[in-house]
Amino acid sequence: IKRMVDLDLAGKRVLIRQDLNVPVKDGKVTSDLRIQASVPTVEAALAGGAAVILMSHLGRPTEGEYDEASSLKPVAERFSQLLGQPVRLVKDWLEGVEVKRGEVVLCENVRFNKGEKKNSAELGQKMAALCDIFVMDAFGTAHRAEASTHAVAEHAAVACAGPLLAAELDALGKALETPARPLVAIVGGSKVSTKLTVLESLSSKVDQLIVGGGIANTFIAAAGYPVGKSLYEADLIPEAKRLIASAKERGADIPVPVDVVCAKEFSESAAATVKNVADVEADDLILDIGPETSKQYAEILKTAGTIVWNGPVGVFEIDQFGEGTKSLSLAIAESPAFSIAGGGDTLAAIDKYGIADKVSYTSTGGGAFLEFLEGKELPAVAILQTRG
Ligand code: 3PG
Repeated sequence: IKRMVDLDLAGKRVLIRQDLNVPVKDGKVTSDLRIQASVPTVEAALAGGAAVILMSHLGRPTEGEYDEASSLKPVAERFSQLLGQPVRLVKDWLEGVEVKRGEVVLCENVRFNKGEKKNSAELGQKMAALCDIFVMDAFGTAHRAEASTHAVAEHAAVACAGPLLAAELDALGKALETPARPLVAIVGGSKVSTKLTVLESLSSKVDQLIVGGGIANTFIAAAGYPVGKSLYEADLIPEAKRLIASAKERGADIPVPVDVVCAKEFSESAAATVKNVADVEADDLILDIGPETSKQYAEILKTAGTIVWNGPVGVFEIDQFGEGTKSLSLAIAESPAFSIAGGGDTLAAIDKYGIADKVSYTSTGGGAFLEFLEGKELPAVAILQTRG
């Protein structure tokens, strides 16, 4: 794959696909992490003497229609502030964009165009015609084969990976393809069903797989313990058993919590009670791992060579059910392991417990991060590979 850093950008029109799909409320960006992560690429392109054209999607608007609620206007404003120079939003850009060397324009939401989601070749050709060099830098959207991530890369005179995409692929490769061992993964979240392929793929690679949240409840049930009225998936118990057995076969482990934090109701004011995993009652809800389990998991993390983290282990938004996630966050922060984390809830937990600068690499990907963990090929990366 060609990399932007190796190309001569001087005087060139450089079209950069970024993932500026950030949360927006009342016309304001509420979390600018993805914009922050995208700024250095633009700075590098400007320093190289390029005329910069940016593209991104925002939300999931109806294709072929302009929709004010999905406009990139708030993103352009925030981008300008962070970059310290104007980022001009252009609404009609498919037939051509006016941009000079040293300037930055942002094309309005690519998903307003018919054919974007379907990866239309015609649309990709129009995008490609805007530039001399196409830079794919949207790791968070690399699992989508859409006109602005795939067809454009096929048709552009030159197509390459931007620094953010390259850094993400390097970090993920280091974590999963050539990991320092032991490799420990933490997979939390509410459902086994939505993360079954992640669990399957990771359980064949890792030395320890720590499960949390509703996912752990299904594993607790699979181990033969009661889960009361906790969220769990009875139909996936055989899958959980199979994963535990196959991990064991290769000398790996998927530990089951020894204690849990329960409540009688799911609310901010619910009283939290620590129970041995065997003592969960019929009207209990398991909402976090218990302190003894946290201690055991922290030990595992301390001696890890690599840690991959996706998903909190409890309902950390409510403090009395956040101790497990907090304790694992602090253990990751203290561990000398190379650590990588991704996913919206995980980033929120990292932020809440203040460990952002202690995690070796924080991915900007949600779905793309998960697909990488699943061992799937990312189509927007694959097309860059075929372009050489
Ligand atoms: C994301 O937020 O995961 C990416 O920007 C992709 O968005 P999408 O799921 O709407 O394609």
